[in-house]
Amino acid sequence: SKGTYEFYMLKEIDEQPAVMRRISNDYFSQDGDVKVDNDIVKAMADSDRIYILAAGTSYHAGLVGKNLIEKYSEIPVEVGLASEFGYHFPTLSKKPFFIFLSQSGETADSRVVLKQVNERHLPSLTMTNVEGSTLSREATYTMLLKAGPEIAVASTKAYTAQIAVQAVLAKAVGEAKNLKVAEDFDLKNQLALAAEGMQELVDGKEKIDALAKKYLPCARNAFYIGRGVDYAVALEGALKLKEVSYIQTEGFAAAELKHGTIALIEQDTPVIALINDPATSDLTRGNIREVQSRGANVMVFAMKDFAHEGDDVILPKIDYYLSPLLTVVPTQLLAYYASKNKGLDVDKPRNLAKSVTVE
Ligand code: F6R
Repeated sequence: SKGTYEFYMLKEIDEQPAVMRRISNDYFSQDGDVKVDNDIVKAMADSDRIYILAAGTSYHAGLVGKNLIEKYSEIPVEVGLASEFGYHFPTLSKKPFFIFLSQSGETADSRVVLKQVNERHLPSLTMTNVEGSTLSREATYTMLLKAGPEIAVASTKAYTAQIAVQAVLAKAVGEAKNLKVAEDFDLKNQLALAAEGMQELVDGKEKIDALAKKYLPCARNAFYIGRGVDYAVALEGALKLKEVSYIQTEGFAAAELKHGTIALIEQDTPVIALINDPATSDLTRGNIREVQSRGANVMVFAMKDFAHEGDDVILPKIDYYLSPLLTVVPTQLLAYYASKNKGLDVDKPRNLAKSVTVE
């Protein structure tokens, strides 16, 4: 039930610290060892390329997962939109392993791909929130997201759960390959930091409401920009904002704006800049100045270490590859308040269904 919440979306945003703790409890042993079904780890460690397939928000979680798996398992990863992949299979590597990310486990676009994977007798894993769902039954292996039922149409806690469970898998596979980088990855501690950081961010929700009220009521369009994993979060932040508030929003790799899209920046166009990437934070600051000089209202969400005075949200410190767990929270809240402040039905945006069972 919604309890005291007006909408499930906010309840589910607030539940994310608890979801991180549950994943940490369930996927680590008492002595702190990562705990994943051995068959999954072996099949994945044996593969020469991972293909992650998904749709919508789950696809965006896959983009983050690619970074995690390449970093901590050292296996190349391709991420595909299931709807595109299904009818135009790329040339596969010799030993592919498929991961299907799906909150519902029922997405028809993903089922089309899995059917072909099964016809080719290739190994697959479904990461889903729903035990016994179709994609779970049809894949070789399943890992559960443990996010609890997600009711709001706009996905929030399933996205962060997908990132955390992909991190668990990346570490387990990397350790099976005896990679030092995986052994040194203190994921249990990082998940605790994620839970704490998320709590701090949801506790500061009034600040995000104020940003939504200041910058978004009259906005026709908006942009999210970021580099590295922040680009992946920019895509997700944009999807969330557009689907619940109906403000047309695009996520961009920060430097790509100047290759065309900057033409759309006008006086007061909202631009939300995400900064967690140590390699590019100064460059993204430069991109912020470019849009500011064209009149954009820029909101900056930056990790503590790279924050400047006047930034709008200071993101607590965490491993760069896991930073989307924190960065996404203010983007979810911004979408929530933009929608609620317009008097919209936050949980049931027009034209959308919770699970998309048609191709
Ligand atoms: C957006 C959203 C959708 C889903 C997509 C895939 O907030 O919820 O984009 O992420 O329809 O659904 P699942 O994960 O159930 O396969």
